Amino acid sequence: MKNHDIVEKNIGLMIVLTVVAISFGGLVEIVPQFFLEETTKPIAGLMPLEAKELEGRDIYIREGCHVCHTQMIRPLRAEVERYGHYSVAGESVYDHPFLWGSKRTGPDLARVGTRYSDAWHKAHLYNPRNVVPESNMPSFPWLFDNILDGKDTAAKMTALRTVGVPYTDADIAGAKAAVEGVVEIDALVAYLQQLGILLQQKR
Ligand code: HEC
Repeated sequence: MKNHDIVEKNIGLMIVLTVVAISFGGLVEIVPQFFLEETTKPIAGLMPLEAKELEGRDIYIREGCHVCHTQMIRPLRAEVERYGHYSVAGESVYDHPFLWGSKRTGPDLARVGTRYSDAWHKAHLYNPRNVVPESNMPSFPWLFDNILDGKDTAAKMTALRTVGVPYTDADIAGAKAAVEGVVEIDALVAYLQQLGILLQQKR
């Protein structure tokens, strides 16, 4: 009996070998990504989020903004013309977890930074219908009442530092003072206003 016959007539063995073959294929594609400069090196000028922006990001996650909005512009003409430069891996190396997403109910936000004024964002988040009459985005009026205490900001930065985000001791020491008393809406808008600005094209 040839070796091949043994595999073809023994379905258990065939399943095991199929899994091995597919896993190997996957590893060959995935593992090098962890070591390529293109995917692991921050792009020029990339800075970790400031304390207030970091809290804004957590509000973004808490409110589920990422459930309706991606932060991932694909390298397709239609996307690049609408949103700007396609997303590159080096922009997200300090993002833990990254918020690329895959489902868009609203537009992609990867390069929304500086596209609108702070006042526009506030009017929009208070009630999207105030500025975009046909909008079906939810309102977030409580963000205007909630005040941050900055109690956990330093701990969050310390945790991020252990996974490679280059926060300095001074960043961490100053975190609470930078956040304490800030209204949630201001932290969220600060986060939105820096999204993707490093690779923004002139429109
Ligand atoms: C249920 C889905 C949904 C959720 C949740 C959601 N949005 Fe939206 N968002 C939309 C839709 C739809 C639009 C397009 C209409 C509009 O501009 O209001 C939009 C538009 C936007 C825009 C304007 C983008 C542009 O390029 O014009 C911003 C900024 C934005 N959303 C931020 C947020 C933030 C921040 C949150 C979380 C606090 C959030 N959204 C939550 C659906 C959503």
